[in-house]
Formats: sequence, structure tokens, C-alpha cells
Amino acid sequence: MAEKFKNKVFILGASTTKFGELWSRSPRDLAKECVFQALEESGLELSDVEAIYVGNMLSGSLGGQDHLGAFFAEELGISVPAMKIEGACASGGLAMHAGFTAITSGLYKNVLVVGVEKMTDYKPEEVAKALMGAGADSEREAGATFPSLYAMIARSHMEKYGTTEKDMAEVAVKNHYHASLNSHAQFPHPITLEQVLKSSTVSSPLKLLDCSPITDGAAAVVLSQESGVRSQESVNIIASAVATDTLGLAERKDLTTLKSAVDAAKKAYQMAKVAAQDIDVAEVHDCFTIAEIIAMEDLGFFPKGKAASAIREGKTRLGGRPVVNTSGGLKACGHPVGATGVKQIVEIYRQLRGIAGKKQVKGAKLGLTHNVGGSGATAVIHILKSL
Ligand code: COA
Repeated sequence: MAEKFKNKVFILGASTTKFGELWSRSPRDLAKECVFQALEESGLELSDVEAIYVGNMLSGSLGGQDHLGAFFAEELGISVPAMKIEGACASGGLAMHAGFTAITSGLYKNVLVVGVEKMTDYKPEEVAKALMGAGADSEREAGATFPSLYAMIARSHMEKYGTTEKDMAEVAVKNHYHASLNSHAQFPHPITLEQVLKSSTVSSPLKLLDCSPITDGAAAVVLSQESGVRSQESVNIIASAVATDTLGLAERKDLTTLKSAVDAAKKAYQMAKVAAQDIDVAEVHDCFTIAEIIAMEDLGFFPKGKAASAIREGKTRLGGRPVVNTSGGLKACGHPVGATGVKQIVEIYRQLRGIAGKKQVKGAKLGLTHNVGGSGATAVIHILKSL
């Protein structure tokens, strides 16, 4: 498929804001902060931007403002095609996919992809209800929440593969350790297995420290047909693939895998002409700790049922391979839902350029992002390569 692309897709600049409870910040200034930083890094001017894709899920249901494409174009003072892309927690990944297709088709030369979400200004029950807009109607009517849906997924994996609460806690400990090296993370501090296992139950078997938090934040990426002024440090997106599955868990045959992620990963590996074993570093959608265990298996990093032991042995921690969630992941860096898919790209871009600071993976050449919407109704995979 790759040979059919009209153009290569270069990342020229990328930035994120700090993630966290940012009560004094608006979506407007969060997005502007990272857009201007990404543009400055790219060497391009605002007038070079030919289109804007905004990844966001909740601006309408929580903030009352849905029209984010034109909203940000006006805010930036430019008049270009601009649109909000919504796909639940995969909104950012889908916005990246839209930017990727615009460049590969030859329609635009330079585009801006922004992901933004403001969640902490609202009551937890309002946020939980708004997030359930990504679930099946029957799940919403039954009063399910995402922690309860992923708790069912966790129970299935425990039953089928013997996965334990301790195995899930290992994911949280690793990701908090990585976040402790990331000053932009919401929870930049290490935690212990005991702390995870003793944290309060949210939806059994998932506890507070198995869950990603409620987060504010934004991320931006400048994509171009051309490598720009730093061609020797260029990073290419060599695959962008999306797949979907049923919204509801009840319609699925197997809850221990996300079929959308398996399908999207297969397409992405084919497009990039690489295999799972070639990946040096990955950012995956650990909205709950069980989701990272399943992602490791769905992406082909480890055989089915073997990811938990690999994580326990430190294979996905800094120093292992593939290193997973160097940013701290959704669990510890935070999960501003529409921004997450773009933030994952920013992290991998920095890893491949060798500018990821204390959390740098030595010699990383090939990276992957895995962004999931709902409980797996949408999955978006990108593969990035340093030149
Ligand atoms: N990880 C680590 N610490 C967390 C945390 C998390 N996920 N969530 C909250 N905390 C901390 C807070 O900082 C706070 O610490 P403090 O007392 O020192 O200030 C404390 O735990 C209590 O926080 P609070 O905001 O009162 O928690 P809560 O009970 O309202 O919410 C969850 C906790 C897990 C229910 C909430 O974060 C949640 O719903 N997460 C899932 C979000 C989701 O579904 N996203 C979509 C995924 S598909």
C-alpha cells in the first residue's frame, strides 16, 4: 500500500502542554500554546498552514462549544479548511489520520493537527456521563461507565489467561516510573505495587491506581510533504491505519482482545512493511492497566496470554525492548481524551529524534502509537520512522 502514496509525510514540529488539573487554562490557550511551539520548531509560519484538524471529544457535551475547527482558525487568525474530528478517546489519532491522508493525497503541503480536551472543570459524574457518549446505547441505558466496561474485560482476561490484579498493578508501577521522568505528566511520581493494590476499588477488579485520570491538556503536530530545514533529523509517518468494531461489548465474541486494534495493526504493519518485532518504542492506550496488557498482545509484541509475564520481567520498561509508554501513558501522563492520540505522536517523534530527555530510548529508530476509542469500537495505529 505504501508505494501508492503520492507524498511522504514528515513531522516538522510537535509539542504538548503540561497535562493535569489546569483550572486556570482554557482550551483556547492550551491549544495555542502547543500550536505556536510546534510551528516555531517546524520553521514554518502560520501563513504556511493550509488546513487544521482538531481532535476533540467533549467540547460540545461539557463545554457547549462544538465548532472547534473554525473556532481555532479564528483564534489563530487564519482562514483555511478547519474541522473537528471526533472518535471518542481516539479523536486525536483520527485527526492525525485525516492530516496524514491530506498530505499523502497531495491535497495540502502543510497541515496542523491539534488535540485538545478540558475535563477537570466539571463534576466527575458529568464527565463519566459525557464519556459514555462513546458507549453502546444499551450500555449507557444500563448505567455502565468505562471503568465498569474495562472491569468486565479484565475479568475475562483473568479467567482465560490467569492474569492477576498484581499483573495489572505492574503496568501502573512501570508507567508511573516513566512519568517520573516527564515533567509534563499529570502524576510525575513513582508508586509501588502495594500502593496500587491497596488503592480504593473503582470497579472490581480495577482500583484507583489502575485507572487513567481525568485530565486537561493539548498537543499539536505540524505535518508536511517536505522534510524542512532539519532533513538529517526528519521523522516520517510511514503508516496510518484505522479499524472499527462493535460499540457494545455484548456483541463481541471475545473480550480478551480488541479486534479493531488487531485489524488496524495488521494494516499498519503491511503499509509500513515492518513487523511487530521491529518496533523499538511504543505509546499505547492504557486507559486502564488491563488495556496495556491486551495492547501488547493485540500488537503482536508478545503471544496471547504472555504479556503480563513480559511486563513483570521489565521487557517494556526503559532499558527493555520494545519500551512502552515512555511518557507515562494515559495512566500517569494523563488522558485528556481528544488530545491523547496527538500526544502519543509527539512522544514518539521526540524519541525518534533523540530529544526525549531522561526517558530517551537509546537508538530508537522505529516507533508505534496505538489509540483506542470507547472500549475498542475505534482503533488507530501509526508507525513512525527516523530517517
Ligand atoms: N491515578 C492516580 N491518582 C489519581 C487518579 C488516577 N487515575 N485519579 C485521581 N487520582 C488522585 C487525585 O489526584 C486525588 O489525589 P489527592 O487527594 O492527593 O488530591 C485522589 O486520587 C482522588 O481524586 P479524585 O479526583 O477525587 O478521584 P475520583 O474518585 O473523582 O476519580 C476515577 C477517580 C478513577 C474514578 C477517575 O479518574 C476516572 O473516572 N477515571 C477514568 C476516566 C475514563 O473513563 N476515561 C476514559 C477511558 S476509556
